Amino acid sequence: MAKVRTVFRCPDCGASAPKWVGQCPGCAAWGSLVEELDAPLEAVAHALVASSGPPVPIAEVDPTEFTPRPTGVDELDRVLGGGLVPGSVTLLTGEPGIGKSTVLLQAAATVASSGRTVLYLSGEESPQQVRLRAERLGALHPGLFLAAETALPHLISAIDQVQPELVVVDSVQTLVAPELSSAPGSVAQVRECSHRLVQEAKRRGCAVVLVGHVTKEGTLAGPRVLEHVVDTVLAFEGDRHHALRLLRVTKHRFGSTQELGLFEMTESGLVGVPDASGLFLADRRVGVPGSVVVPTMEGVRPILVELQALVADSNLPAPRRSAQGVDSGRLSMILAVVERRVGFPLAKLDVFTLAVGGMKVLEPGADLAVALAVASAMQGRPVPPDLVACGEIGLGGELRQVAHTPRRLAEAARLGFTRAIVPHSAPHDVGGIELIRVGTLLEAMDRLDLFDI
Ligand code: TYD
Ligand code: MG
Repeated sequence: MAKVRTVFRCPDCGASAPKWVGQCPGCAAWGSLVEELDAPLEAVAHALVASSGPPVPIAEVDPTEFTPRPTGVDELDRVLGGGLVPGSVTLLTGEPGIGKSTVLLQAAATVASSGRTVLYLSGEESPQQVRLRAERLGALHPGLFLAAETALPHLISAIDQVQPELVVVDSVQTLVAPELSSAPGSVAQVRECSHRLVQEAKRRGCAVVLVGHVTKEGTLAGPRVLEHVVDTVLAFEGDRHHALRLLRVTKHRFGSTQELGLFEMTESGLVGVPDASGLFLADRRVGVPGSVVVPTMEGVRPILVELQALVADSNLPAPRRSAQGVDSGRLSMILAVVERRVGFPLAKLDVFTLAVGGMKVLEPGADLAVALAVASAMQGRPVPPDLVACGEIGLGGELRQVAHTPRRLAEAARLGFTRAIVPHSAPHDVGGIELIRVGTLLEAMDRLDLFDI
C-alpha cells in the first residue's frame, strides 16, 4: 500500500506544516496544529462535485427515511425520541465508571433479542470481560457479536462480515486510523475515525453509537470536534455515591433535546426509573423542620425533590454557606433576600442546604422552597407535609411564576400532595391541588406560620 501522506494543519487559519511545530506558521497561535490526511486532489474534487440530486419541494422530502427504531431500553428510547435512527451516529459521553458500557451492552442485547444483528466493539475491555458482564446482565444473544479491535480498517471489515444494524464503539478514544502517526485519543485520531464511521453509517444505513469519555471538568477528553460530526449527543451523568443516573440529550438532529432518562445502577445493571418523584421521596421523614418539597423540571419531565436546610450558630468570621445539589450563587442571593426583605438575622449562622438523593436542583423555580426550608429550619417549625412550594424570588422579595407550573403541580397532585404555595400569577385551574397564592416571600412565610422572629 502506498504510504499515505499526512500534514499538520491549523484549524483556525488553515495553514499547514509537514511536521508538527509548536507555533502555527500562519497565525502564530501556539499548539494549534492537528494532524490530518493530506487528501489527494481527485478525492477533494470528487467530494466537491458529488451531488445529492436536484432541489425538491419541501413537502416532497420523504420523512420516513428518519424513522427511529426502538432499542428496547425504555429510558434510552424516551431520550432519543423513539430509538436510534438507521444511518445516524450518536455519541454517548460521561465520566469513566458512570455506566456507559453497561447501558450500551443492555441496549445491544435488547436489539439483538429482537432478531437484529449488533456489533459491539470493545477497545477497552477484552471479549472475556465483556462476556462476563453480559452474562450478569442476561445479554447473551446470538445476534450480538463482539470484537476487540482498535484499528479502524479492522473495525470496518468486521462490519462487512457481520452486516449489523447497530454498531457500538466503546470507546472512540481507543480507535486508531493507522495512516496517522498521532496517538489514540488525540484530536487528529478521534476526528479522522469518527468522520470515517459517519460515512460508513450513512452508506450502510446502520446506526452507530460512539462512547466518548469526558474529563472531570466535563469536557470531552480532547475531541470536542466530535460533537459537530455526530447527529446526536447523549450525556450520562450521576454521582458515584448515588445509584441514580441521568441521561440527557444535548444535541439531537431527529428530535427534541428536552427529554431526560433516569436509571438506577443495580446489581443486575441499569434499571429504568419511570417514577422518579416516588424514588426521591421514598425515604422522606415528614414533620421535620427545614424540609420542603419542590416540583422541579428536568427538560419536560417534572420531578419532585425534597430540599433540606440546617441552620447552626457559627464560630467562623465568615459563616458557612453550603449548597449540595443547590446552586450556590442562588443560595447566596436567597439568603440575602431572607435577611434584608424578611429581616431574619442570618449573619452569624452557618446555613447548609441539600437536594436529597443526589439530584441537582439549579433552576430558579426552587428559590421559594429553599427560602422556606431555611426559614423552617431557623424557626424549628416544619412546613405541612402535604405542601409543595414553587416560584422564583426577585431581589425585592417578590415572587414570580416559573415555566410549566401546571405540569409541576399535576405531578405533585399525582403523588398525593394537596397544597401548593405559588406566586399570585400562577395559572388557574390546576386540578387536585389547592393553591395558596402569595405575592412576596414575607407573605409566604406568614401563611406558613414561619414569620414571627
Ligand atoms: P461501566 O458501564 O463500566 O462504566 P463506563 O463504561 O461509563 O466507564 O460501569 C461502571 C460501574 O457500574 C462499575 O463501577 C460497576 C457498576 N456496575 C453495577 O453496579 N452493576 C452492574 O450490573 C454493572 C454491569 C456495573
Ligand atoms: Mg466502559
